Amino acid sequence: MKLAVVILAAGQGKRMNSDLPKVLQPLAGVPLLGHVVSRARALDPSSIHVVYGHGGDAVREALANEKLEWALQAEQHGTGHAVMQAMPNVGDDALVLVLYGDVPLIRVETLRQLIASAGPKSMGLLTVMLNNPDGYGRIVRNARGAIQKIVEQKDASKAQLRIREGNSGIMAVPAKLLRKWLGNLRKSNAQGEYYLTDVIAMAVKDKIKVTPQIAPTLAEVLGVNDKAQLAELEALHRAERARELMAAGATLIDPARIDIRGEVTVGRDVFIDANVLLEGKITLGDRARIGPNVVLRNVSIGADTVIHPNCVLEQSAIGAGCSIGPFARMRPGSKLGAHVHIGNFVELKKTEIADGSKANHLTYLGDSVIGKGVNVGAGTITCNYDGANKFTTTIEDGAFIGSGNMLVAPIRIGKDASTGAGSTLTKDAPDGQLTLARAKQLTLEGWKRPVKKPK
Ligand code: UD1
Ligand code: CA
Repeated sequence: MKLAVVILAAGQGKRMNSDLPKVLQPLAGVPLLGHVVSRARALDPSSIHVVYGHGGDAVREALANEKLEWALQAEQHGTGHAVMQAMPNVGDDALVLVLYGDVPLIRVETLRQLIASAGPKSMGLLTVMLNNPDGYGRIVRNARGAIQKIVEQKDASKAQLRIREGNSGIMAVPAKLLRKWLGNLRKSNAQGEYYLTDVIAMAVKDKIKVTPQIAPTLAEVLGVNDKAQLAELEALHRAERARELMAAGATLIDPARIDIRGEVTVGRDVFIDANVLLEGKITLGDRARIGPNVVLRNVSIGADTVIHPNCVLEQSAIGAGCSIGPFARMRPGSKLGAHVHIGNFVELKKTEIADGSKANHLTYLGDSVIGKGVNVGAGTITCNYDGANKFTTTIEDGAFIGSGNMLVAPIRIGKDASTGAGSTLTKDAPDGQLTLARAKQLTLEGWKRPVKKPK
């Protein structure tokens, strides 16, 4: 059967106390709904339908880059009513997988098993064993353990309230039967809503096999209703991602003090120290070492490169055997070859530096192309901006830039050229020679320091 995923995301999320719709609250920097969509996508479904309502346009805009079918639920009359809104776009031959927009950590493997247990004449239901089932619909089974129905907390008897197996809300149901059952839902319950959960009793009555599957982990069925739960899921997500990295062979000094908000690929024997934030697409080569308090955003780092403490590196590629920081900043568009040294308080922007070059102290290199074996002295600045336009600084192989140089771009420093300390260069410097541009030193004979005038 082809797979149609229906994600329920119309609820308001009052308890969030936020202007941002609940399903757009970020977890690891990605909206809750985004997590659900990408996990659904991993199942390779033929369509993904999002039932939206609260926060309407904002929700659609936030996921504008995704191929989704949107179903508006203008007024929220319950989970059954929500699914109904998507059904006109779902064919009878489909298997419908219902997910919740506020249950972000659902595991793809669990969903695969759930789908496998469903067919044209059978359905799967994901349940969860809870120490405190408060708020959940209860799974009512018969003496032989077969599911009979789901009773919502507000409709449950005292005995039913003691049931510890809860409804996760996630189910896989053949579309044809689901359509029929949804048409038969009634609002005659404590909340006056169309309960999706009522389809279980209808399935039992129609002799359709309902296969319950107890969720292997609790985290994957936890929903987010308030900021405290959001923080709990953030921690669970963090732990899950840290475990993945360690499984891939990385050494984490403290898995509770790494934040992974993106996709990280690690080579062998990578070492990551405390308080490291990895965002976007990150590649860490074999034996790369990331020091404490480092932020990496869309960065690739070559083998044996060391990132010293307190660096912020963004959208850049760093070669093998480099040494970066401490306290270095790389802004977008920088590219370093092998064995490059970038020291403390050095800022790079859109700068390419070839093998073996060094800029070790207090320097700004922007819009620059720097060759091999170059040494950039402390306190050097590429003056790349005239207030309106940006210009390129080119420094050829083997050049030696003295300390405290102002290189006013566009400018080219020749191959093996040297420049004198404190120079402000506005014209190209030729290959192989020393170029200086600074006032001659002079001493004023007989000069006296000013003294305070008597009052
Ligand atoms: C629902 C289940 C309950 C289950 C629990 C798990 C029903 C009747 N109850 O209860 O058995 O244990 O989830 O968390 O299904 N939504 C809409 N439109 C609506 C109503 C809800 O899109 O009209 C969406 C919400 O945004 C949310 C999800 O459906 O993502 C669940 O809704 P919620 O109100 O949280 O359901 P519960 O009462 O918690
Ligand atoms: Ca809920």
